[in-house]
Amino acid sequence: MQPLADRVALVTGAGRGIGAATARRLAADGADVVVNDIDADGARATAAAVEALGRRALVSLHDVAQHAAAGELVARAIDGFGRVDVLVNNAGITRDALVHKLDERDWDEVVRVDLKAPFSVAQACARHMAARGRGRIVNIASLAWLGNVGQAAYAAAKAGVIGLTRTLALELGKRGIQVNAVAPGFIDTAMTRKVPEPIRAQFIRKIPLGRIGEPGDIADVVAFLASDGARYISGQVIQVDGALSVGVGGAF
Ligand code: NAI
Repeated sequence: MQPLADRVALVTGAGRGIGAATARRLAADGADVVVNDIDADGARATAAAVEALGRRALVSLHDVAQHAAAGELVARAIDGFGRVDVLVNNAGITRDALVHKLDERDWDEVVRVDLKAPFSVAQACARHMAARGRGRIVNIASLAWLGNVGQAAYAAAKAGVIGLTRTLALELGKRGIQVNAVAPGFIDTAMTRKVPEPIRAQFIRKIPLGRIGEPGDIADVVAFLASDGARYISGQVIQVDGALSVGVGGAF
């Protein structure tokens, strides 16, 4: 019996990177997957991978940073697959700059995608999950919530995601909904490939487990949090960072 047999999962930003790996992993565990991304080619490729694993996939190109579109996405998922059992709020962006150079529009865009979108999609899902008395929400935060040079907006948004996660866990627990966050460290995706090479190499050198993370390292933990094995876990932040965050001043 597959751990997520007959469950329906919705993964935002699933067109590539961590979201794509998560969609594939949840499908491998038996879930049908609503694959959301603003990148149509990426979303379709992930949907094809889900179907190749023998599960159903539904493509959504909604921009989750628009509140109304987030609601439409959840309505479409319920319309298509009858329900949402697992929401993974994964879509995210970076617009890195030191604070004195940080453009106000970049601040707004990061906060819209990385903080407001998880709220909007979670709100629409929570209404539906509460009526059914069950559901799992996994928010992808970041190690940067601890603070990171050049990432004032991103760190603030991701710290906000953790506040959101903990509050939703309190509000929704009695409705049978568990809400947790995963905070990845430095993972090999398009997002980190755009970090200038010397900084990227410096980060990787400092990872106590001795290697950069792979999207699958995050997907495996999300799959666990979506599974029955995590039935008594809620309101937690799981750092999945090869111990990069451990120690006085982190691993630096
Ligand atoms: P990525 O840039 O490879 O993929 C992000 C996906 O989200 C893209 O396909 C993009 O089109 C989609 N997306 C962006 N805005 C969207 C919107 N408004 N609506 C729908 N889709 C949207 O990034 P990656 O690395 O896979 O990151 C996934 C999540 O993990 C993000 O929340 C990121 O902040 C977080 N994270 C990543 C880390 C890393 O080292 N790669 C470290 C810590 C956190």
